[in-house]
Amino acid sequence: MPSTKPLILLTYPIAPEIQRQALGRRFRTQVARSRADFEKRVAGASAIVTLVKDPVSARLLDGAPHLKAVGNFAVGLDNIDLGACAKRGIRVVNTPKVLSRATAECALALLLACARRIPEGEALCRAGRFKGWAPDLLLGLELRGRTAVIVGPGRIGTETARLFRGVGLKVRFIGPKTKPADQNRLLRQAQILSLNTPLTRETRHWLNARRLGLLPRDAIVINTSRGPVIDEQALIRVLKRRRIFAAGLDVFEREPEIPVALRRLPNAVLLPHVGSATREARTAMAQTVLEGVAGILNGKRPWNEVNLSGYA
Ligand code: DGY
Repeated sequence: MPSTKPLILLTYPIAPEIQRQALGRRFRTQVARSRADFEKRVAGASAIVTLVKDPVSARLLDGAPHLKAVGNFAVGLDNIDLGACAKRGIRVVNTPKVLSRATAECALALLLACARRIPEGEALCRAGRFKGWAPDLLLGLELRGRTAVIVGPGRIGTETARLFRGVGLKVRFIGPKTKPADQNRLLRQAQILSLNTPLTRETRHWLNARRLGLLPRDAIVINTSRGPVIDEQALIRVLKRRRIFAAGLDVFEREPEIPVALRRLPNAVLLPHVGSATREARTAMAQTVLEGVAGILNGKRPWNEVNLSGYA
């Protein structure tokens, strides 16, 4: 006999022990084999658990008459049509807090890699091209005393600021309420610019050619938020001309595609969207998202529920 337990449909497997802990025995889970399979099986799902690369659109929701909860295995929600969820009374949870430290550590790692040209040195050693110590080999920048501007004073931005201060940086913030004239002034001071803002209509291409043009010549740009926050082509142009020192990017505009021009630049340090990829953070994210959808299906208000009141 087919099970009558509510179905939680996952787009990616989550370890069985985490599932047992977070869900107990009230639910059954299935993992979709492909996007097409997901779109078919969503018809029978009470909840779905999605990744940043899984769009949750109004069209998908129209094919999901029993859906009560969407759990995004991420803090960012730009893959989800929140308005469409709100209109259908579908509730949403994500994974805030538990990944802030991991993402901030990734921003710091990218910054150090850029400032000290770590990938260039590594590549040189692996290629057998290290010919001995030289006073001018791979000169980088010292961080102490420099000014970092963090765009996005949320949890991840605040944690990033804490780590940046630890290496001697002075930290300033740009937030949604920072006036354009103050933004411009801060950008002129930003020897390090770290993007830690969610992707929204307002932040798409926030770092455009004009704002890149305001940065000091030795600036380092770090992006651990979302690729489209930067106009990637404009960034490639300034990196090519060495108009800034370097960029450390964990995210890309058309992920997973990374333009060849960007891949060829020695002053770009590139990572495959691994900001939160620590064992600690990913385990906590899995627990948080599953407990959240289970909470909704059990009629509770999970702490990580997204406030959709502005969207309905
Ligand atoms: C997020 O949580 O939004 C990340 O980008 C995935 O780790």
